[in-house]
Parts: sequence; C-alpha cells; structure tokens
Amino acid sequence: MAHTSDLIATDIEQYLTQHENKGLLRFITCGSVDDGKSTLIGRLLFDSKMLFEDQLTAMEADSKKYGTQGEGIDFALLVDGLAAEREQGITIDVAYRFFSTEKRKFIVADTPGHEQYTRNMVTGASTADAAILMVDARKGILTQTRRHSFLMSLIGIRKVIVAINKMDLMDYSEAVYNAIRDEYRAFAKQLNLEDVTFIPMSALRGDNITHHSENTPWYHGTTLMGYLETVEVDDERLQRNPFRLSVQWVNRPNLDFRGFSGTLASGIVRPGDEIRVQPSGKTSKIASIYTYDGELDQAVAGQSVTLTLTDEIDISRGDVISTIDAPAQTAEQFETTIVWMHDDPLLPGRPYLFKLGTRTVTATVTDIKYQINVNTLEHTAAKKLELNSIGICNISLDRPIAFDPYTENQDTGGFILIDRMSNNTVGAGMIHFSLRRSQNIHMQHVDINKSARAQQKGQKPAVLWLTGLSGAGKSTIANLVETRLHALGHHTYLLDGDNVRHGLNRDLGFTDADRVENIRRVGEVARLMVDAGLIVLTAFISPFRSERALARSMVEDGEFIEVFVNTPLDVAEDRDPKGLYKKARRGELKNFTGIDSAYERPETSEIVLDTTRLTPEDAAEQIIDTLKARGIIPSD
Ligand code: ADX
Repeated sequence: MAHTSDLIATDIEQYLTQHENKGLLRFITCGSVDDGKSTLIGRLLFDSKMLFEDQLTAMEADSKKYGTQGEGIDFALLVDGLAAEREQGITIDVAYRFFSTEKRKFIVADTPGHEQYTRNMVTGASTADAAILMVDARKGILTQTRRHSFLMSLIGIRKVIVAINKMDLMDYSEAVYNAIRDEYRAFAKQLNLEDVTFIPMSALRGDNITHHSENTPWYHGTTLMGYLETVEVDDERLQRNPFRLSVQWVNRPNLDFRGFSGTLASGIVRPGDEIRVQPSGKTSKIASIYTYDGELDQAVAGQSVTLTLTDEIDISRGDVISTIDAPAQTAEQFETTIVWMHDDPLLPGRPYLFKLGTRTVTATVTDIKYQINVNTLEHTAAKKLELNSIGICNISLDRPIAFDPYTENQDTGGFILIDRMSNNTVGAGMIHFSLRRSQNIHMQHVDINKSARAQQKGQKPAVLWLTGLSGAGKSTIANLVETRLHALGHHTYLLDGDNVRHGLNRDLGFTDADRVENIRRVGEVARLMVDAGLIVLTAFISPFRSERALARSMVEDGEFIEVFVNTPLDVAEDRDPKGLYKKARRGELKNFTGIDSAYERPETSEIVLDTTRLTPEDAAEQIIDTLKARGIIPSD
C-alpha cells in the first residue's frame, strides 16, 4: 500500500478526505474455537497495513519488546497480540477492530470463540452487513457452524462468506472444498440464507485473502478482501425505516427548555414533523433538533440528538418517539424467538429484566412453544431452555412497551434478557408480533378498592412470606401466628405448600421449573388476597431468590414481610417429620431441597427466626411483635 503512505506523506489533507468518503463495511467473524478467526483477522489487519493508530502503537510497542523493529509488525506477533488481548478482555462481549484499504473502511466485530460465544455473536451481529463463517477444512460443518448460521438468519444478516480455512492442511483439495460447500448449501437453503459465497483459504499462509492463490488453481471466485471491498452495502436501510427514537434522558436545564435526547434508531426527522410518543400514545410536533454542534434541519438514523416539541407532554426515559404516519406499536405480551446464553436454564414463570432500546421492564416467559434443534432444524417440546438453546416463546411484560416486529426494525424489535440478581445478560430475542390477548385485555376499574376493604377489617393488608427448608417449622409457626391473629379479630388466610399442592398446584412437581411456577402462582394468589384486605401467611420452601423477589414485587412496598425460618439442614433432617429426608437419602425421592436441589438462603429478610433457639411459640410471638411495630396490626 505504498500509494497510501505516499499520500499520507505528501498530502495529508487529500488523504483524509479520501479516507472520510470511503464507504464503511461492518462485518463479523464466527465459527468454532480454533477455526482460525484470530489468524484471519490478523491477516486482514496485516495485509491492509492500515491499523488504527492506537493498535499500531500497541503493536509497535510489542514488536519493539520482542526485538522485531524495523519493518514494522510481524504477522505471528500480531496474531498472538490479538489473541492475548482477547483472552484478557474475556468479559468484554465484543471487541471492534478497524482497518481500511484504499477502497473501503472496515469494522470487524471480533468475538471470543468459547462456549459463551452466542451472546457475543448476537451483540456483534446486530449491526453487521456481512458475516464471515469460518470452517476448518479438516472438520467440515459442525454444530457450532449450524448454530451460528441459524443465528445469522435470525438476526437478519443476509450476506455470508463461508471461509473454508486451513486448506493447506488438506493439500488444497478441491474435493474437500466441494464437499463442504455442497453440505453447507443444502443447510443454508433451509434457513433462507441466499447470498452465500464460498472461499477456500489459508489465513495462516495468506491463500486467497488478498491475492488469488497459486495453490488453488481450480478456484476462480473472489478473494476475501476482494469480496469485502466490493460487496454491496445497504447504507440506507435504516433511513428508509420509519422514524424512531428511544428516549435516553430528558433534558431540563431550566423551566423553558425540555429536550428529549437519544439516538435515532431509524428514519429521518425534521422540525415540523408530527410525532407520537409510545406507549402513552400522546402526539405533538418536532420544534427543533439539537446536537453538540448546534441546531439541525434534519437528523438521520444513527445520529444522537436532542429533540424539543411544540407541546408540553409527559415523556420519560425509555419512551419511544415515532413518526405519526407509522408509529411503533404498543403491547405487553409477545411471541418471540429467544436465544438462551446462560448456564442456568431459562425457566417459564421466572422474572427477568427485559431491555429494549432504553426501556427496561420485568418479563416472564409464559410458554415455551417449542425449541429448535440447530442441527436438524426440527421443533421439539421443551419445559426450559438450556445454554445455547433457541426457543419460540410467549413472553409477558409487567407493563406495555413500544416496539416493532424484528423483521421490520431490528433496533425496536430486538431485546435482551438480564438476570435480576447478577445483572448478567442471559438471553437475547426478537419480537415476532404482539399477542392479540394482550391487546384485548384491559384492567377493569372497580369502585371498592384495597384500602376500602382493609379499612372495613380494621387492619393493613400484608403478606407474611415464610421460607425455609422442608421440616424447618414453617407450617407450625404460620399456624400459630394465624391462630393469634384470628383471636385478635384479624382477617387472615394461610396458604400452605402441602395444601396448595393438592389443589391449585396439583399439576406441579419439584423440578426447578415447577417450583418457579408454584411460587409464581402463590405470589399471584397472595396478591389477590392482599387486594381483598387480608393478612396472608404463606408457608412454602420457596427456594429461589428470584421468585421470592417476584412475589415481593407483586405487592406494594411495606406489604411484604419475608420470614426466614432458619433451621440448619442437619436439624431439619433430624426432625424429618414426614420421613422424606430418609427417603431422599435412600435415593427414593429425587430433587429434594437441601439434598439434590438447591435452597438459596435469603439475604435480606425482614425477620430471621433461629429455630434451634426459639420455640415455635416464641417464634410466633416475634412475628406478632413485628406486625405491631410495622403498624400492620394495632399495638396493645
Ligand atoms: S417449593 O419448593 O415449591 O416451595 P413447597 O413448599 O410447595 O415447595 O412444597 C414442599 C413440601 O412438599 C415439603 O414440605 C414436602 O412435604 C413435600 N415434598 C415432596 N417432595 C419434595 C421435594 N423433592 N423437595 C421438597 N419438598 C418435597
């Protein structure tokens, strides 16, 4: 690339202009571990010799350290450097690398190849124009190849380059290349991936990367760089979609100015345009558009702006401002595709955070319709989604959000799921459509409300949520508390695990998935009973923090009192009132809490009862005292 360096030396201005006006291609690389991704990226960077300055400096520092000064960067060192950086950055989902040739600029999403890779691929792929799918010529098409292809088709990447790599290790055999190509073609057809290009290569040796290789005289197609430099990019796709801006923050420096800041997910917006705010449905007009550099007469997809409106309407973070002609839809229940990315499986009924654009709400999967086997593309039934599974799921949110179907708009139709406890991203998904039931069911206003019902009973409604191991003493203590409350003239109801499992929850067993559903239903029933003005006692093992948190979130602040009946396993096992521990130890009872099923100890219970020191009567007394102290029942 001597020409470019000359230009840098002689006419930097012209070089920069030329550089600025070059088109940009975003792509990702994917494939199994060891397929040669790092080598390939290293090769592209090396061949383009136009590393971004910081990379260049880092690499030069490295090459100095290793004593390879002079001619610049050594290829092997470059690859090692990239791999090492990747290893260190394992917590970073995707590293974006930049390089450029005389024809184009490139951004490649570089992602680690280990098992958790799905997450990174989904993150990296959402903005990619093309994907390079690495296949090791020695191994051919693997499950991982199929999974990544499936994800590409889900995410909507249409241009795929199948890089059949390590051809040098297969003697550059045309037959090997043809066999892999034909197998992949047949698979890709089922996924409707139509624009697939195959290139035989050796990233290590540089075959068919920038130059046609003499080792593959039978191959007459494009080189990889040739492809990347010329493949058509649909730059204007985002601008063609209707205008959407997901509000990141509301700017109110003084009483006269109220601006709504965010990045245009799609479309074009100009002052005077009529807009609709979702989910509220309020309408107004754009007054002005600001950026750091001043006022604009239009903004396009990808730009970060602050909008002001002609009317004072209520808008908060997470709302979506859309064009009035084709506004976003609003709903709270959807059919979706979910890609699960965590070791702990997705369980229907468990609450997760759902983030779409700048809005985060709570979601539960209400139904896994089926999961898809990525090898055969068959649909199979599933009660949960394990790591790397892909499922078609109905999902229900705790409030309506603005959205578009993913096929219409990737930014307003794609979401991630986050674990509420660890804050890790555990899944990604795409909205297909809203469920009609969610459009047709509205909350009905009733005149007699919770406080009217509670007042009549002379109490504050509450949930006393007892949790602890089987045999901890939950039912005994709950029963004593209810008896006391009843004697004091209060209106109560006791929901007890064994009883509820004979009726409402008789269809549920003791798998994690069933326990989640057990507690979700009990939470909903407790919510209704609190609404009825009752003091509700629940006695369930309720082993998982997530679901206890869910039950808590279903009632108002201060209404939920978690009582940890803290009995160590050996004490509960010693008591063994129903002989179940013995059965479990003999292996006759599977999934027994504390033996081969987890109990997640509460960390922030309102009341902790140490039953090795307290009699059940004392424990009950302690609960009654707390109810008085909290003003739920009057103190005498
Ligand atoms: S929870 O885990 O879903 O909250 P729940 O409190 O409803 O459990 O039911 C627990 C009761 O079911 C125990 O007290 C015990 O009598 C009975 N039981 C039967 N099998 C199991 C099991 N595998 N693990 C725990 N409890 C079991």
